[in-house]
Amino acid sequence: MHPSPWKRPEHDRPWPYPTHIAHRGGGRLAPENTLAAMRVGAEHGFRMVEFDVKLSRDKVAFLLHDDTLDRTTNGHGPAAALSYAELARLDAGGWHSPAYVGEPVPAFEAVARYAIANGIACNIEIKPNPGQESETGAAVALAARALWQDALPAPLLSSFSEAALAAAQAAAPELPRALLVEQVPADWPERLARLGCVALNINHRDASRELIDAVHAAGYRIAAWTINDPARARLLLSWGLDALFTDALAEIGPPA
Ligand code: G3P
Ligand code: MG
Repeated sequence: MHPSPWKRPEHDRPWPYPTHIAHRGGGRLAPENTLAAMRVGAEHGFRMVEFDVKLSRDKVAFLLHDDTLDRTTNGHGPAAALSYAELARLDAGGWHSPAYVGEPVPAFEAVARYAIANGIACNIEIKPNPGQESETGAAVALAARALWQDALPAPLLSSFSEAALAAAQAAAPELPRALLVEQVPADWPERLARLGCVALNINHRDASRELIDAVHAAGYRIAAWTINDPARARLLLSWGLDALFTDALAEIGPPA
């Protein structure tokens, strides 16, 4: 059953975030997970960015999506094999376009400082190297707590890894968390409750009015990735979706 169309459902969990989130910083317009991408997202009016964080060999948190360096840098092999000093010498922009040649692999700390200084909200996706789920969840949560301190809004920590989220919860329980799911499990309410999450982050293909209503009725928020079709974005927002991640920053701009 749908709630009355004139009455927004009551939410138990606070949600201080905008509806539109620039995926991997600047979507398609800049090399993903770089400081340059964060600036492009901000230039397009996005007040929130999503990016992926993992640990170097010497346990420095840095931004990269894949387990390996090959797709988005001029390095090769597993990212976990390099120290941050080695990672920082790589080119993370040339794969995208000549304008970004020389763009470095950023440390999480640098991106956090940029976002805080410019009032950009962050969704930090904890993306652990294989086998480092708990270690990465705890390290990223503790780093986020130290970096943000009293800055608002607090960053939203998310992960496909429940072990990473559980470790983040234990390390910095005050930081909000969202569970990312490839497919929506039937027991999502129990998983969100167990991990103390505020939100469920789904693949937009799984979005339905019924699911959005059910998540809201349970007191949680719901976000969807990665929406690059403006009509799809409008539809899901009309259903009450709390936030969307997009790569199409020019086509799906944030509300004026
Ligand atoms: O956090 C939303 C989205 O980024 C999850 O998928 O593979 O782009 O990190 P992926
Ligand atoms: Mg991501």
